[in-house]
Amino acid sequence: MYSARQLDRARDLAYRHSGITLGDNKDVMISNRLDKLKRALNSEDIDEIMGWVENGNHIETFVSTFTTNKTNFFRESFHFDDLKERVVKQAIESASGLKIYCSAASTGEEPYSILMTLEQANSEYRTPLSNYSLIATDIDLDVLKHASNGIYEWNKNADDFPEWIKPANYFKRRPHPSKEGDFLIKVKETLMRKVRFDQMNLMSASYPFKGEEFDVVFCRNVLIYFNQDDQNAILKKLFRTLKLGGTLYLGHSESPLELAPYVERCGQNIFVKTKEYL
Ligand SMILES: C[S@@+](CC[C@H](N)C(=O)[O-])C[C@H]1O[C@@H](n2cnc3c(N)ncnc32)[C@H](O)[C@@H]1O
Repeated sequence: MYSARQLDRARDLAYRHSGITLGDNKDVMISNRLDKLKRALNSEDIDEIMGWVENGNHIETFVSTFTTNKTNFFRESFHFDDLKERVVKQAIESASGLKIYCSAASTGEEPYSILMTLEQANSEYRTPLSNYSLIATDIDLDVLKHASNGIYEWNKNADDFPEWIKPANYFKRRPHPSKEGDFLIKVKETLMRKVRFDQMNLMSASYPFKGEEFDVVFCRNVLIYFNQDDQNAILKKLFRTLKLGGTLYLGHSESPLELAPYVERCGQNIFVKTKEYL
């Protein structure tokens, strides 16, 4: 097993490169991740590996090993209901289009759920959205590659879609090459063209977006990996990119913290920006 010194060294590297804060109760998890890192880098010597990372090598592999990428289509589905029923309707009424940022996109299920929601709204409402765009980022290059490929296992995901979404409209389906009776689904090109995937570390000192650039920011189930000071700092940077009247969606156990006086809660972890944070 790993020594306390090795575990702390891994903690320090995870924080330095991603902001992920691993408390004292995470020793088992860190050990499992270090085992995975040894396999990924094909070495048995964890001190040597951490030395490489400290010298600026294999950082992407290290980060990718320490991120938790759990996600699914239409996770916390009430956010997609709100997007369709409130946000899109308001944007149509004001003929204003929508610019959306998805800030911890993982393997892509979340941004594709956003796109399917917008497309579905456009097919249902008499007047469609004049235009929309979606930028989706994550720190982890492996998940971004998966997201850009847009290929998922149908049998694992079939139950995630709400009844108002017809997956056949958005995915092509083909037999799974190695699991008999199962299927793979691939996001249709027309939908894939509507999202831009980029790598971005939420811990970066500044973000490559303008002030008040977005109408909607999704920041779900990622703040939980940071300490409270970092959560506040990230929220403030994201908040600056959100328009007045824009919507911030947070994950089920996350809260706006110091931004609470500047937002109005309008649903389960749904916050509308009412004032600029100064
Ligand atoms: C648990 S997943 C959540 C995915 C999705 N937002 C959802 O709610 O289903 C957390 C994601 O945050 C990403 N992440 C972790 N640290 C990050 C950082 N510093 N900057 C950007 N993304 C980060 C991870 O790579 C991972 O894909």
